[in-house]
Order: sequence, then C-alpha cells, then structure tokens
Amino acid sequence: MATHTPGTLGIDFGTSNSALAWAPRGGTAQLLPLEGSALAMPTAVFFNSEDLSTHFGREAVTHYLEGTEGRLMRSLKSLLGSPLLLETTVVNHRQVSFQDIIAIYLATLRERAAHTLGHAPQRVVMGRPVHFVDDDPVRDAQAQASLQQAAQAVGFEEVAFELEPIAAALDHERRLTHESTVLVVDLGGGTSDFTVVRLGPQRIQRADRSDDVLATTGVHIGGTDFDQRLSLGQVMPLLGYGHLGPQGREVPSRVFFDLSTWHLINWLYQPRALAQAQALWTNYAQPHLHQRLMRVLQERLGHRLAYDVEQAKIACSHSGTDSAMDLAHIEPGLQAAMTAVDMQAQLHDLLARTVACARACVQAADLAHGKPDAIYLTGGSSALRPFQQALQAAFVGVPLIEGDLFGGVASGLAYSARS
Ligand SMILES: Nc1ncnc2c1ncn2[C@@H]1O[C@H](COP(=O)(O)OP(=O)(O)OP(=O)(O)O)[C@@H](O)[C@H]1O
Ligand SMILES: [Mg+2]
Repeated sequence: MATHTPGTLGIDFGTSNSALAWAPRGGTAQLLPLEGSALAMPTAVFFNSEDLSTHFGREAVTHYLEGTEGRLMRSLKSLLGSPLLLETTVVNHRQVSFQDIIAIYLATLRERAAHTLGHAPQRVVMGRPVHFVDDDPVRDAQAQASLQQAAQAVGFEEVAFELEPIAAALDHERRLTHESTVLVVDLGGGTSDFTVVRLGPQRIQRADRSDDVLATTGVHIGGTDFDQRLSLGQVMPLLGYGHLGPQGREVPSRVFFDLSTWHLINWLYQPRALAQAQALWTNYAQPHLHQRLMRVLQERLGHRLAYDVEQAKIACSHSGTDSAMDLAHIEPGLQAAMTAVDMQAQLHDLLARTVACARACVQAADLAHGKPDAIYLTGGSSALRPFQQALQAAFVGVPLIEGDLFGGVASGLAYSARS
C-alpha cells in the first residue's frame, strides 16, 4: 500500500457539516466522497442503544428522526474551548468525553479518506474559525489544542491549522482571471468569519501569502444561533417560554434556552434536569404548555424540534415565502409559524452584529476605495436571504458571488499547505 503518497488532506470539521479534500503535491484539490457520493457530511454521531452500533452524518440524523433508541450528538465543534468538552457521558455502556466523540468522528473521516485514496493521509491541514471563543485567547488556544489532540489521537501525524476564511479565499482564487481585492465571507453553523484578501492568478504561486491577507475578523454567530433565536421566538412560547404563571411571574427560561441550543439538548435528558423541568409545573397557569414541554423532554424530541426549526428557516430563506412547522409529534394539530417577517424580526440583531463584523474587516483592510471589488460568499448560512440583503445594504454596488457553500473551505485547506 502506498502509505507515503505526497499530498495534503484538507479537513473542514464544521459545526454543522464536514468535508474533506485531497491535493496531491502540485496537483488540483478534489473533494472526497463521504457518504455515498455526497461531498459533505453532517457533523453528527448517533449511538444506537438498541444494537450498540454507531452512525455518522445523514445516517445518524435519519436514525434519530426515525425514532431509533439512542443518542444523537450534533454541533460538537461548539464544545471546543468549553469546560463541557471534557465532561463524560455514557453511550452504549461506555463512559466517553465529548472530546472522545470528536475523535470518533475524525476517525471516521480518516477511514473514509483512506478508503477513497487507498492510503491513510498523514499530513493534514484543519480549518479553524477566526475565533473558536470570542474575547478569550486562552480558551481559544485550548480549543485548537483539543482539536489537534483529537486528530493526532486517531492517527493523523502532521496536523497544521489554517483560518477557514483564508482557505475559502484560496479556493475561490483558482477561478479568478484577474487580480482583485475580495471580502471573503464564511457564514457557517457556528461562526461567521471575514477576510479581506488580494487574490489573482499571478499571486497563486507565491510561497508566502501573508502580505495578501489584509484583514481578518470573526464572530461567534452562525446558523445554529439563528436556529436558537427562531426556536425561542416561534416555538418555545408554545412550551411556556415567556408564559406568565399564577403569581404573574414568567416561567424560568433556562430550559428553553438549552432546548433551543443544539449542543446543550442532551443535557436536558439527564434525570436531574428532567426532575427540574417537572418541578416547573407550579410556575404555569396553563398546564397543557408544561405537558408539551415534558413530552419533548421525556420523548427526547429536542433535536427533532431543532431540526424542524432549521428546515423551516432554510425553506423560508430559499423561497422568501412563509412556512409552518408541523408539531403534531408534540400534540395533535400543533403548529408553529415561520414567516419571512418573523425571520427578519427574530434575526435582526444577530445579522446586524454579523454585518458589523464584516464592516470592521473592510475598515481594518484600509482599502484605497473603501470597498472591496467583490464579496465572495461561502458557508451554508451565507445563503440566508435576510443576511444577503443586510450585507448588500452595507456594501452598495459591490457584487456578491455565491461560491461552493459546503466544499470551498476543505479544498482551500488542501491548497494552503503549499506555502
Ligand atoms: N439555504 C440555506 N439558507 C440558510 N441557511 C442555510 C441554508 N443551507 C444551510 N444553511 C445553514 O448553514 C449552516 C451550515 O453551514 P456550513 O455547513 O457551512 O457550516 P459549518 O461549516 O458546519 O460551520 P462552521 O464553519 O461555523 O463551523 C446550518 O446552520 C444550516 O442551517
Ligand atoms: Mg464552515
């Protein structure tokens, strides 16, 4: 077996989706199939407690949605840099930490790459957001170190890191015919990252590209935050969020925040959390709202609810038309609305903070004309219509170019090892 084929594997370990690209030395990067022919795979693990099997990606999500007994893990990247990463949980009779679960997922990426390539890659470049953790350099460094440890634990020997937006820019550059200064926007599941970079066919071969990166900014806001906000605004009130109890006080809101946050949902199923939720009944004036909450927790419907919100967000963003969420699995006939107006209202401040981060990036780049020549969009959340509108309003007249939303970062990572 050719174990030393020279080349680099780019690993885009995303909050919501992961992708791999392989670039042989001096050659073109190719995205690798991860699930059948799909070139990106949800960052999801399902531990089936019926037969103790483990599933990944779409298969993991499908098992969960079909009601197989077990545990779904999503948004694992959001735990990097948090003390929760080293907390352990029992899955399939094994005590594992969330860091171990990240390693289990990375091991599968490695196996699938090896299967396609015929050899296990040794040299990898992993993506990282501009900030794993906002305003906390120590925890941010810890997040990268934990990801590196997990990658090394599963056999990747040489692990380097590159910023995700720089990787996206390097991929976009291959398609440019002339030099231009581009604001690269990578809006994913967990973070929004911005880079102003000089790109062009004459620049590709330069060994050191650091001069071309004029500014980089990032903020810890992404699609999972949009899901959380939409869930709190459109769905959680149906379970009692914001509901006034018999004494005129609101039901304590913590449980609704956790239930709307992809990476915190599993904690609510622990016996102590269930007992706390059960005890909330005294805070409700309308008991049926509490019954809905308990049904979601006891039947472990939290991820399903988050998934429904996410799908309604995508549908409403695509078509601009209203969509309703069918919540009959919680109570017959129950529905939640998701209109374009709701979405605009719920996401307004998150989008404003995201666009402010884009502006800060362009300001820091100190461009001659004050504006980039183009804006390149990547990451699934960059397709969100209200975001594109807010961005266009901030940079009037600058063309928006939609790139490969799910594969661009991985390809760029495989190229980034050139320097
Ligand atoms: N058409 C769409 N409109 C709006 N949002 C979308 C659309 N398609 C996907 N998304 C959202 O994009 C996000 C996933 O994007 P992506 O796969 O780029 O993220 P990621 O790389 O996993 O995250 P990160 O880079 O932040 O770690 C999810 O939150 C998903 O809901
Ligand atoms: Mg990403």
